[in-house]
Amino acid sequence: MKYLSYKKKSLQFSGIDLAAVAKRHRTPFFLYCEEMLVANYQEFAGGASAAGLTDPLVCFALKSNPNRELLRALAAQGSGADIVSGGELRRALEAGIPPEKIVFSGVGKTEEEILFALKTTKHGIFSFNVESIEELELINSCARRLRKTARICFRLNPVVKPKTHKFISTGNKTHKFGLLEADILKAVASPYLWTHARLVGLSVHIGSQLLDLGATRRGIARLCEVALKTKVPLEFLDVGGGLGVDYHPEDSSKLPAVADYMALVAATIAKHFHARSLQRPRIVFEPGRRIVARAGILIMKVLRNKISEDNHFLIVDGGMNDFMRPSLYGAYHALLPVRQARADRVCHVVGPICETSDCFGSDRHLPAMKSGDLIVLCDTGAYGFSMGSNYNLRGRPLELLITRQKKLRVVNQAQGYEELL
Ligand code: LLP
Repeated sequence: MKYLSYKKKSLQFSGIDLAAVAKRHRTPFFLYCEEMLVANYQEFAGGASAAGLTDPLVCFALKSNPNRELLRALAAQGSGADIVSGGELRRALEAGIPPEKIVFSGVGKTEEEILFALKTTKHGIFSFNVESIEELELINSCARRLRKTARICFRLNPVVKPKTHKFISTGNKTHKFGLLEADILKAVASPYLWTHARLVGLSVHIGSQLLDLGATRRGIARLCEVALKTKVPLEFLDVGGGLGVDYHPEDSSKLPAVADYMALVAATIAKHFHARSLQRPRIVFEPGRRIVARAGILIMKVLRNKISEDNHFLIVDGGMNDFMRPSLYGAYHALLPVRQARADRVCHVVGPICETSDCFGSDRHLPAMKSGDLIVLCDTGAYGFSMGSNYNLRGRPLELLITRQKKLRVVNQAQGYEELL
């Protein structure tokens, strides 16, 4: 953990002393590191270019973290956006991401959202990643009303099974996502769908937090095969997101390096597409987690200890409403005390929410901690704040950013009672 380390027994994030930050801001709060965010983006985008992929376009998945300032930093690096709602579209535009770099995914796009996306430029956004025939009918009719031609990409359901949590697996027949090959080919051959729409790409996204890339390879191979079968000269192939991070130390040895992932994408496209066609469609990516997960932490305060026979609960002021992943997916996130000491206790770190699943970690080895001590939940930059809620009528937490100049900036105020109630 290069960005998290102890100095004189006090935890630092990107060189900033966390105890000092917590003196000035009320816990719980998210703290992001711009330097790490940008470095992750550059590693990803640079890796795609280094692997020789054609004119790569990296569309950051806003659902992982739509914070304005983080998006501005990514936009300045040339990032595009993968969005799934009118809210995310507006946020991406406001952060300076041009419509020509925006892909719109999701099975439930509404008419209002489609019209808004079509109106962003003469030709609308870069692409509607279409997930059903009815959706294409609606987009075509919206474009007709606006006298435009919508840019369409079909999201292929490649019928593969990635190794990940079943809630975040998306590439199989039983999942609501994507279209099966036969349905895509039938739609391509149905002229009524294309009066105001044009097929420009094909995409695939099989799931998230992928550490084993076998299914990724099979998904991209299927993408290439179906792209060739459409017989339409496609502008781009979109290989989706999904590359995981090592939340658990045991995952570190399994974690694919970005360079290896890019080499796999390049080799699969070379074998299954370039070997059979002279076309060189550009390659689009939709990463979220890999760019932002490790660039954020959640800082919480211990409220009290509670011992029930041999169960030791450490009750903290952050809850599942602030960070859902452990309660929703049983996800592991490291917990670190801000003050370093010998970890001689085994405890369950729990929040104040009235749900048994409101637990950030069971049987964790931690030092003795008392009311007011600080504890950090690691790798919470992705699917953290964005999945938070007001459950139990708790306000949304503060978001802070360590800028590249090592300045601390509030990038989203905590929600007070005036706003909440
Ligand atoms: N593209 C599409 C079409 C997606 O559905 C997703 C994520 C992504 C890209 C970005 O995937 P990433 O690179 O971040 O893995 N809340 C869950 C993750 C849900 C992911 C949903 N789709 C979690 O906390 O693990």
